[in-house]
Amino acid sequence: MTTAKKVASKSSKSELGIDVKDLKVHYDTPDGVVKAVDGVSFSLRQGERMALVGESGSGKSTLAMALMRLTRAPGRIAGGQVYVGGRDMLDLDEEEMRLQRLNEVALVPQGAMNSLNPVMKIKNQLLDGLYDHQTEGDQKMSKEEQVEIVEKLLTAVDLAPSVAEMYPHELSGGMKQRVAIAIATSMEPRVIVADEPTSALDVVVQRNVMQTLGRLQEGLHASIILIGHDMGLVAQFSDHVGVMYAGRLVEVGPVKTVFKSPKHPYTRLLIKSLPTLSNKKDFIGIPGLPATLLNLPEGCAFCLRIGQTNPEKIPWVNVAKDHFIQDCKKCSSYGK
Ligand SMILES: Nc1ncnc2c1ncn2[C@@H]1O[C@H](COP(=O)(O)OP(=O)(O)O)[C@@H](O)[C@H]1O
Ligand SMILES: [Mg+2]
Repeated sequence: MTTAKKVASKSSKSELGIDVKDLKVHYDTPDGVVKAVDGVSFSLRQGERMALVGESGSGKSTLAMALMRLTRAPGRIAGGQVYVGGRDMLDLDEEEMRLQRLNEVALVPQGAMNSLNPVMKIKNQLLDGLYDHQTEGDQKMSKEEQVEIVEKLLTAVDLAPSVAEMYPHELSGGMKQRVAIAIATSMEPRVIVADEPTSALDVVVQRNVMQTLGRLQEGLHASIILIGHDMGLVAQFSDHVGVMYAGRLVEVGPVKTVFKSPKHPYTRLLIKSLPTLSNKKDFIGIPGLPATLLNLPEGCAFCLRIGQTNPEKIPWVNVAKDHFIQDCKKCSSYGK
């Protein structure tokens, strides 16, 4: 599809960018099945930004890889649908899916700065993805076209064209992260999944890189799923937030509403554990140990964290406009 056509087909504001239904990703381990993503559903319109937060081990990266259909053994996608542009990604054959990556869905992987090839010049890493998507009938790019495309991609992420001739070790962490973002957006994807894109950077660089990512995403009118454990950073960037606990979403809603009035006990604890000037003397952490995802029961996973049990299936409840929680009768008032 040409860029003009693509932009036209992506321009409808109300069109869904991504629609995830009951996605399950399991790891088969010698000790049993780890349900790292256990029935996750959410959708985003084009141009919308959603943050996915949750502590380490809650299944965020597993979810990100599954959205790209990059799950590898011992992991497997155990169920669900991932609609992008009206097609279920999980239903495509391998070749069709290869063409969808970068073109429709693109990932800025966790630790993206280490995902660059150390022995390849930046320009070749930028062109790699584009070549990979050429089909047999396509004309080869001329040298001039290559230089032009590389320059355009680098400029879009605020890097100098001279970076094209460099190797990753010659770049700072922030610059490498910008290259990773340039690769992810090189084919103007409809959906961008960014897995902790700035967690290894200092706060000033973090902010600048996020601004660049946001500007690109807006320009493409792409949906973006920003994964992070830092509630503060992701909240600044996003319109919506989804909170993950033990492989499940437990609360979703507009960032402002969720921050102002978190309804799930785990979200409340996450927000309370953010450092502020007024509580700087008392560090408020989250009690208990993170859930083990092995043989997790059907019912409420958070109850186990606080020494309770509720084996019943927990319903979704609409608590405010666009704001939903997994409403467990046993633990919902915990930490109020
Ligand atoms: N290759 C693997 N084999 C077995 N379990 C795994 C594997 N990768 C991840 N897991 C488990 O899946 C869960 C979620 O991991 P992950 O998606 O990396 O979480 P997050 O990104 O939120 O930190 C963790 O309990 C982790 O131990
Ligand atoms: Mg992760």
